[in-house]
Amino acid sequence: MNDIVKKITDADLLIDSFPAGNNEEVEHFRIKFLGSKGLITGLFDEFRTVPVPEKKEIGRMLNDLKKKAGDRYNRLKEVMESADTGENKFDLSLPAEPVPLGSNHPVSIIRNRIITIFERTGFSVAEGPEIETGWYNFGALNFPEDHPAMDMQDTFYIQSGSTGPSENVLLRTHTSSVQIRVMEKTPPPVKVICPGRVYRNETITARSHCFFHQVEGLYVDENISFPDLKQTLFYFAREMFGTETNVRFRPSYFPFTEPSGEVDISCLICKSKGCPVCKNSGWVEILGCGMVHPAVLANCKIDPVKYTGYAFGMGIERIAMLMYRIDDIRILFENDVRFLRQFSGSA
Ligand code: PHE
Repeated sequence: MNDIVKKITDADLLIDSFPAGNNEEVEHFRIKFLGSKGLITGLFDEFRTVPVPEKKEIGRMLNDLKKKAGDRYNRLKEVMESADTGENKFDLSLPAEPVPLGSNHPVSIIRNRIITIFERTGFSVAEGPEIETGWYNFGALNFPEDHPAMDMQDTFYIQSGSTGPSENVLLRTHTSSVQIRVMEKTPPPVKVICPGRVYRNETITARSHCFFHQVEGLYVDENISFPDLKQTLFYFAREMFGTETNVRFRPSYFPFTEPSGEVDISCLICKSKGCPVCKNSGWVEILGCGMVHPAVLANCKIDPVKYTGYAFGMGIERIAMLMYRIDDIRILFENDVRFLRQFSGSA
């Protein structure tokens, strides 16, 4: 009986030291210990001759041994399977696992398209802060001090200025503020578009939100005239909405432009037949524009006798809603992936 105990102890030691560095050796391990003619099977045969009083103890030792050999074999097999043994285990020519890509947000898609169109005609992109002072958002833009846009109901104020409305701190209500910052620093010619997020203290409904995005443009140089503005915006509308779409200019008013206008396009949704989006008029307003007011140029230390300029500004969401037939602005900001996935593949 001592004999079998010694054999078990030796086999136990051998399990730990048996070389198993490659697939072949691991297979040898299996045959040596676990095969039908292997060590452990032999010991179980021998076990039959063990006298009954020792059977329990030796049986336990044998079972432990078998378990240990089986565990080591399984571990070795795992290691072999996961290690690159240089035996051509991995097919490096297989295509990679597909990486799920997100999609561009419709607001980004439309913003990029607008920017690309204007960049082709020589505009470059300028950006500025979303938190502004009253001067950049209103004062420099020739807003009279009692203009309703400056009312608390329309503008989000962060802090009221100690020395007057110019020092107020607020969330910009348009990116015209960026145009002031650019003109302040750059002598003409200035030809920039200013994309960015703007804020207005509006009730959130299907048609308006308390923040949205704009692209505003500014061109200041000698001899810039209203026909230059019209031509640029006609070009933009044709590139953006296609040659089928009609464009019209209407007179309007902004404190920072004179004369001022608004541009409408024929309704893309009903093809001008009349629908709720165009309020049955067949036309939808897409932007405001005008010749930069001489007082605005002067505020930026640009000589209004020598230089003239035009400016325009449009809301990106409104255009995105028209182009994608979206009837509720709120869905643009809910980040519902079922909505967003529909734009995958668009740049
Ligand atoms: N700033 C105006 C707005 O936010 C748009 C505009 C820009 C109008 C430039 C005229 C000229 O509505």
